[in-house]
Amino acid sequence: MPISLDYSLALHSSAAPCGVEADALSALQARFSDAKKSLFQRIDSGELGFWALPDGAHVAASKALAGGIGEEITDVIVLGIGGSSLGGRAVYEALGGPPELRDGRRLHFPENSDPWRLARLIETLDPTRTLAVVISKSGGTSETAAMLLVIRKWLRDGGCEMAKHLVAVTDPETGGLRALAEKEGLKTLPIPQNVGGRFSVMTGVGLFPCALVGLDVAALCEGAKAARELCERDDLLANPAGILAALHVLHTDAGRNMTVFMPYSDPLRATAGWFVQLWAESLGKRFSKTGERIEVGATPIPAIGATDQHAQVQLFMEGPKDKFTWFVRVGERAQDLTMPREEGQNAYLGGRTMGDLNAAQQQATALALAKDGRPSLTLELPKVDAFHLGQLLFILEAATAFAGELVGIDAFDQPGVELGKRLAYGLFGREGFEKDAAEIQETLRSIPTRRVE
Ligand code: PA5
Repeated sequence: MPISLDYSLALHSSAAPCGVEADALSALQARFSDAKKSLFQRIDSGELGFWALPDGAHVAASKALAGGIGEEITDVIVLGIGGSSLGGRAVYEALGGPPELRDGRRLHFPENSDPWRLARLIETLDPTRTLAVVISKSGGTSETAAMLLVIRKWLRDGGCEMAKHLVAVTDPETGGLRALAEKEGLKTLPIPQNVGGRFSVMTGVGLFPCALVGLDVAALCEGAKAARELCERDDLLANPAGILAALHVLHTDAGRNMTVFMPYSDPLRATAGWFVQLWAESLGKRFSKTGERIEVGATPIPAIGATDQHAQVQLFMEGPKDKFTWFVRVGERAQDLTMPREEGQNAYLGGRTMGDLNAAQQQATALALAKDGRPSLTLELPKVDAFHLGQLLFILEAATAFAGELVGIDAFDQPGVELGKRLAYGLFGREGFEKDAAEIQETLRSIPTRRVE
């Protein structure tokens, strides 16, 4: 069964007076056709490779390499950041059960230069039973390089042969990590040059770690492939990714420049984190494709239902009307619990399931928002399994790509991240970044100190 998109509460009606008329959505058909054409020119020319990934070209290699890893390996540390970590984590957490309660082989995603998690991991894990998977497309990201340096020493000190305990997922030809892998005879998987980090979950980046813990990565790609068919439809109103992108444009134009992404599903917590990066890094841009300064983007806000009904929903309900909420709900839950009947104030819950309660809470929140002119839409997954998760991930990727084209920006670069990287290299005294070091010192000197203790 396919994923469904209900956008009834994203358009103006007496029950949902949000001001964006259904006609405005239909009127975007021509603009959508142009956006789709321009995206497909980039896909067909080979510039963008993510559209082909659901064909599963990376499944066999990921599974074969994972299959060769011995039973003695109980823990896998994935060393990567941003797009080189979030996709794998999203799939692992959605399909692998609560990580802290997992039996058998476990994945760990330290994902930071803050050593808090990595330090604890190397204190508690046995290097001889650990595999490190370093993932970096550029092969030079400092956070990943820092984690790799620490882990390599830990493995060496533990008497581990690097070629058995370290796998690299990186650019097929260039970069420092590729060079290291070749020098040391590491096993590797390629990240195609035309696939950017945040669109790479269906390469070895996401598939290999998940294959290591036995998740059905082929079904993930199958789901994405089924969704891709829907996302290739020319008719805007029949194309779920097109509708998401077009509604995003209409609501941003109406001043709603925050996208709340709120699954009512615990397994999708990390998927919310993955979406935040996809949406923010792809669509937050200073310049249009034609070089005009436009400073666009919608701030993604991750939220979890029903947990955030007791944290952020008060703000969503009564704060500034600058948000467009994307709910995700799940039809059939992998686990559900029936609440026993008891007399008294909780009698209304008796005999019903907790999943039903969670679903009712989602509907009630959406309706309450709508009543006050606060729009939302709901993506419904029949269940959280590999196939339907693949559908969800692909629809969100396609929606992001369409949104970029509709707005006229390049959703596939990230120039804003580069300046921060350069200044950090300068601060750390990296060779070749002396100009940045001087610039940052000059900036630091020019800041009037205002501080209290
Ligand atoms: O989506 C992206 O392109 C980024 O988030 C990258 O994945 C992130 O910066 C890590 O880069 P790399 O894989 O080169 O280490």
